[in-house]
Formats: sequence, C-alpha cells, structure tokens
Amino acid sequence: MTNSLYSRLGGYDGIAMFATNVVLSARKDELLGRFWTNRGEDRNARELQLLIDFFVKETGGQMYYKGRNMALSHKGMGITEADWARFLEIAGNVAGEMGVGPDEGGQVMGFFDSLKDDIVAA
Ligand code: HEM
Repeated sequence: MTNSLYSRLGGYDGIAMFATNVVLSARKDELLGRFWTNRGEDRNARELQLLIDFFVKETGGQMYYKGRNMALSHKGMGITEADWARFLEIAGNVAGEMGVGPDEGGQVMGFFDSLKDDIVAA
C-alpha cells in the first residue's frame, strides 16, 4: 500500500487538496467555466466529493465510489479536445504548485489519459 500512487500523492488529504484545487480552477476558467454555470453550491460540493472518492479509489486508496462511471457522468456535455487540453494544463499547473514529483505527476496524467475517450465527446 505504501507504494501505491494514492500514498505517494499524500493519501486522502493530498488527493483531496489536488482535486479541490483543480476543480476550483476549472470552475473559474474562462474556457471551462461554462460547464458550471447556474449550478447550486450543494451540487458542486457533491460533484467534488465524488471526484475525490473516485480518484482515491482508482489510485489505490480504501474507498467505495458511489458515483456514476465517467462515460455516463459526462455524456452530452460536449467536452471538446480544447477543453480537455485546458483541463490537463490546469491539472499540471496545480501539481506543479503542490510540488508533486515528476513520476507521480506523469502517473496522474496517464490516469487522466486512460479516461479521455469516455469524457471527451466523440
Ligand atoms: C474537461 C474535463 C472535465 C470537465 C469539463 C468535467 C465536468 C464535469 C461536470 C460539469 C460534472 C457534473 C455533472 C453533474 O453534476 O450532473 C462532472 C462530474 C464528474 N466528473 Fe468530470 N469533468 C471533466 C473531467 C473529469 C475527470 C478527468 C474526472 C476523473 C478523474 C472526472 C470525474 C468526475 C466525477 C467522478 C463526476 C461525478 C459523477 C457523478 O455525479 O456520479 N471528470 N464533471
């Protein structure tokens, strides 16, 4: 367990901080902000918690993810290649600011890449 990506990212707290910073930046972003217009605080809080849960589980932490799968969650949103590139840029910037090492950062990007086909509209 100590070698899991989950542990190397700082466990639950590290992942929660990373996911929170990425989502808060995405919501404020000029390009990506449109996905979160007119949404209530509670819905946003629920989405963020589900993202943390999913991330923790997928990186090797003890978590039971209760949300929907990535294809179902993002179907019909019309997420483009440009949106995806911006999302990765934001995630990379947050990882850099948090001092995530290159190995871990690369694995996180690989993890996102494995989800891309389910999230970006074909
Ligand atoms: C450009 C990239 C992305 C955009 C614009 C985006 C946008 C959104 C939005 C607006 C929702 C809320 C849907 C709703 O409340 O009905 C959502 C849900 C979610 N997203 Fe994303 N997302 C992106 C990438 C990702 C990635 C890379 C992950 C995983 C690492 C992820 C994980 C989730 C999860 C777990 C949920 C909640 C699922 C549920 O409600 O059951 N998203 N996303």
